[in-house]
Amino acid sequence: MDSHAVVIGGAGRLGRLIVQKLLDRGERVRVVGRSVQSARRSLPPGAVFYQGDVRDPQALVEPLARSSALIYCVEPGTSDDGPDRPETTLYQGVRHALAAAAVGAHRPHVVLVSQMHATHRAHPLNAYGRVLDWRLAGEDAVRDSGLRYTVVRPAWLTDAPVAGQRVRLEQGDRGFGQVCRQDVAEACVQALYCESAAGVTFEIFNEAGVGSTPWSEAFAALTGDRVPVG
Ligand SMILES: NC(=O)c1ccc[n+]([C@@H]2O[C@H](COP(=O)([O-])OP(=O)(O)OC[C@H]3O[C@@H](n4cnc5c(N)ncnc54)[C@H](OP(=O)(O)O)[C@@H]3O)[C@@H](O)[C@H]2O)c1
Repeated sequence: MDSHAVVIGGAGRLGRLIVQKLLDRGERVRVVGRSVQSARRSLPPGAVFYQGDVRDPQALVEPLARSSALIYCVEPGTSDDGPDRPETTLYQGVRHALAAAAVGAHRPHVVLVSQMHATHRAHPLNAYGRVLDWRLAGEDAVRDSGLRYTVVRPAWLTDAPVAGQRVRLEQGDRGFGQVCRQDVAEACVQALYCESAAGVTFEIFNEAGVGSTPWSEAFAALTGDRVPVG
């Protein structure tokens, strides 16, 4: 990468795995989150922490300036109203990050961590502050941003990889299952390096089996969100 990567939510359980994988590749990594204590506990040496809340657009300007990659993996609040309603992080926060990322000549690749069921308006989860509606609105903001992007919709997250489980990517938001954070983190990082991951939205699951498809091939088998015009 020409410049640094920014992981918003990078001190979280998924985010810190992404941070480590980027550092292992020799990338410069900035992390945004609210809690200094959590960052001290969770972040590997080498990551540069910026204290900031995605609900405050100003807080994102400095870390995102001249970035090559933005990975957004923020856990929403679930209140029906007030600052902890999902809209503030899943939609407004995404818009703030996109605006900060699009300043200047650098055009970062954006990887948005969403969730399976983002399109299921009638799902019981949507009773929690319309979390699924706001997930989809955040996804749409990324897809409409004009930036290079990948939208990743994990199934229910688990911590430990299970032996004999491989990765399956799907589209259409019809599946249900689990996926370990290690595999989601790898998908997010690989998306930054594989041309075939640009402009796609997909769900990610674990399933019984061995021998996962190479990432570039798995991404290339997906359908792009838009048919190129002209
Ligand atoms: N749990 C599941 O089964 C599941 C399934 C599908 C998708 N997901 C999504 O996958 C992503 C990662 O999940 P996870 O369980 O690994 O998350 P996590 O451990 O809860 O980490 C989330 C991170 O978000 C940061 N954050 C929350 N509010 C913020 C704000 N207003 N401004 C800046 N940072 C904020 C937190 O840091 P601070 O508190 O320090 O700000 C934390 O580091 C999330 O988007 C989650 O919704 C989860």
